Amino acid sequence: MAKQFDVVVIGGGPGGYIAAIRAAQLGFTVACIDDWKNKSGGPAPGGTCTNVGCIPSKALLQSSENFDHAGHAFADHGVTIKGLSLDLAKMLSRKDAVVKQNNDGILYLFKKNKVAFFHGRGSFVSKTNSGYEIAVSGPADETITGQHVIVATGSAARQLPGADFDEQFILSNDGALSLQAVPKRLGVIGAGVIGLEMGSVWRRLGSDVTILEALPTFLGAVDEQIAKEAAKAFAAQGLKIQLGVNIVGVKTEKKGVTLNYADAAGQTQSLAVDTLIVSIGRVPNTNGLNAEAVGLKLDERGFVAVDDECRTAAANVWAIGDVVRGPMLAHKAEEEGVAVAERIAGQHGHVNFNTIPWVIYTSPEIAWVGQNEQQLKAEGRAYRSGSFPFMANGRARALGDTTGMVKFIADAKTDEILGVHIIGPSASELIAEAVVAMEFRASSEDIARICHAHPSLSEAVKEAALAVDKRALNF
Ligand code: FAD
Ligand code: NAI
Repeated sequence: MAKQFDVVVIGGGPGGYIAAIRAAQLGFTVACIDDWKNKSGGPAPGGTCTNVGCIPSKALLQSSENFDHAGHAFADHGVTIKGLSLDLAKMLSRKDAVVKQNNDGILYLFKKNKVAFFHGRGSFVSKTNSGYEIAVSGPADETITGQHVIVATGSAARQLPGADFDEQFILSNDGALSLQAVPKRLGVIGAGVIGLEMGSVWRRLGSDVTILEALPTFLGAVDEQIAKEAAKAFAAQGLKIQLGVNIVGVKTEKKGVTLNYADAAGQTQSLAVDTLIVSIGRVPNTNGLNAEAVGLKLDERGFVAVDDECRTAAANVWAIGDVVRGPMLAHKAEEEGVAVAERIAGQHGHVNFNTIPWVIYTSPEIAWVGQNEQQLKAEGRAYRSGSFPFMANGRARALGDTTGMVKFIADAKTDEILGVHIIGPSASELIAEAVVAMEFRASSEDIARICHAHPSLSEAVKEAALAVDKRALNF
């Protein structure tokens, strides 16, 4: 007889594995099915995020930044390095080790929480009286049933028509994280999050990087003032970013790739590169799920259609993370996983889309939460804003990293914080204070009145909050 579970989770990325753990904490019997394989064919739970996304990219961003600092920034601190060299193989194997620690950590957490792990591909078979039958095809084929099913099958890199990923010359995020040599000339299509992060990694390691972006605006989702500052910083680092391009041809040659495109002025251009990263967004992954068998509906863009609470069209089948609408972020997937497990238990799980932070882990880092100025202007909402530059922050000066600013936007009447936008050192960490503040519907004055440690970068957050009322103390 098929093994029966209260909850079966299909997909062991940050959405799925967290949903499985939370459901187990709530007292359910839980199975999680994930098909990701490590190099030796063994299980590697953690999904895109752990294997070819958040974790390896941050490992390489850190390593490449260390290399960059050793070559440039350290000299300003009186630290001179002679004979600096790059051991790329070691850098990549360190990255792989970091990934493995995370894979192993998830397997340990499954054991600790008594989540049954099935390594293989899950697909719906049918709905029966004892729940949904799901076939697992993997090292050991079997069928299990779940009263509730959580679909957390994630996403995959979008292909550019006419430029299929070969992971040798034309790379997705996967190949971009495991190049065995630093390309002399690296082309990137798409100046989004992956393009900027991976472009930064390889530029720091020595590549001449050109990023081609279709939209005429740089980082359109980012507050305009912050995006402008970012464009300045990236240009100064030597990242060549061209906006408003129209790619008309991508041709793989013997030793590289030739790109033909129209530039913003409509002029025909050609660019020869050794390697090309295509990072033009991601598509939901429902391959092989056999969703139709149980009546799951996909929306017009191929996402599993869900309501605000992640319910699908099939009773007791839920879907979370990258495979459903909303931002494709690991922490959004995790929050949905927790909320769904709690809803199954009859609780009131909740995910607040207005307070999901965004971070781009470039240098300078870019982080924001809530609305930006251009959105508020379009809405016609009255607001006040205040900003504070890291140049005027003592800790940033001591660090030798004074690029950027913190910017607060608050409602003109109530002073409730509507958005916080940061570009600069440790923006990814500093944004957490803003998220907490917004979650508690704080005003900018609340933050301005809170004691922040000196000297710390967080004082820039307090000063930006003070600046909303035009009373920054150090600027
Ligand atoms: P996934 O992580 O994609 O996991 C889905 C899992 O399900 C995979 O293991 C997949 O193989 C498995 N699966 C699919 N179908 C089946 C099936 N039928 N049976 C069994 N298993 C199946 N987000 C951030 O928040 N911060 C970052 O810094 C960040 N960096 C990123 C960097 C890169 C290069 C990329 C590509 C993405 C990054 N992201 C980042 C996005 C983040 O990785 C995703 O938002 C997140 O992984 C989504 O989680 P998920 O659980 O929905 O899906
Ligand atoms: P993205 O949506 O961030 O950026 C894609 C870019 O490609 C856009 O600017 C788009 O205008 C451009 N584009 C699309 N088609 C094009 C074309 N034909 N020619 C030229 N440009 C084109 O997507 P990306 O960078 O692929 O990342 C996917 C997702 O992964 C992100 O949206 C994000 O949710 C997640 N991610 C998150 C990270 C983080 O949180 N730090 C890091 C990396 C990825």
